[in-house]
Amino acid sequence: MSTTEPEMAPENERGRSSDAPEIDEAMMAEQGIDMEVAEAVAPDREIAVEVGDKLVEVQNLTIKFGGLVALDNVSFDIKRGEILGLIGPNGAGKTTCFNAMTGVYKPTSGKILLEGTSIGGQKQHKITRMGLARTFQNIRLFGEMTALENVVVGLDARHRTSVGGALLRLPRHIREEKSAIERGMALLEFVGVADHAATLSRHLSYGHQRRLEIARALATDPKVLCLDEPAAGFNPAEKEDLMALIRTIRGDGYTVLLIEHDMKLVMGVTDRIVVLEFGKKIADGIPSAIREDPRVVAAYLGEPEDDVA
Ligand SMILES: Nc1ncnc2c1ncn2[C@@H]1O[C@H](COP(=O)(O)OP(=O)(O)O)[C@@H](O)[C@H]1O
Ligand SMILES: [Mg+2]
Repeated sequence: MSTTEPEMAPENERGRSSDAPEIDEAMMAEQGIDMEVAEAVAPDREIAVEVGDKLVEVQNLTIKFGGLVALDNVSFDIKRGEILGLIGPNGAGKTTCFNAMTGVYKPTSGKILLEGTSIGGQKQHKITRMGLARTFQNIRLFGEMTALENVVVGLDARHRTSVGGALLRLPRHIREEKSAIERGMALLEFVGVADHAATLSRHLSYGHQRRLEIARALATDPKVLCLDEPAAGFNPAEKEDLMALIRTIRGDGYTVLLIEHDMKLVMGVTDRIVVLEFGKKIADGIPSAIREDPRVVAAYLGEPEDDVA
């Protein structure tokens, strides 16, 4: 199975030379990215990214639940600026892998590095602050809060104001509050939920809730956005729209890890795909290679083991 090395098989055309302009406005315009929105959403982030260096390294990750080995010695990298698909049949270990990466589970053994720093076993909020944000397979929003409040809560993870400062209404807090609302609105706009900013999130349509979850994860200004089956329950047109949003998110400079059960769906949007089956990595490569890989085809068809290469 071939793996994609950035220097040999770049799938996408992104600035990657070190003397690339800071922000490639032509590329952004091409992808329909509004600079003003992009800057309001993440004022401090370097928007132009270079594809290639290893942002996340999962090394020999094993997770056991009692006797069940949910992940068995799994290794893969996420390269900066790419959309990596993590696919596999139900029960393959995809969500478990996310949970280990985001601090829900402590690895039984193995390592997870973010920009070279170990994050395996760290607390969830600390991992979020370090730059790894996620959505959940089952939507988790604050139902009694408005869409905007749900996003501003995410922004709070980065707030510097102390609780005391907030109560005393210190000038810096007031300034941050304003910019939090502006950034929150920009994020809602970005994901297409701005018209429902004042709606309680439990009253939003399912599709809007899914998008709001993405906005909330983006609010933490992550280096890597991890999406766990974000298109679950969508009809084909909604799925297409969501994949377009994910492409735009990547175009905006984020690195994306996309869990998806539907193999066809990830083919069109990912740069590279890692395939899990029964907790083991069975393939890692560009979509066209994955599509033809006999082990992957077999895993998805549920063919007997002895037919598998
Ligand atoms: N908290 C848990 N306790 C026990 N078993 C679990 C737990 N979470 C996941 N599993 C098991 O680990 C395996 C992988 O599950 P999961 O990661 O959810 O798969 P996927 O997301 O690929 O469908 C399954 O057999 C599942 O039942
Ligand atoms: Mg899952």
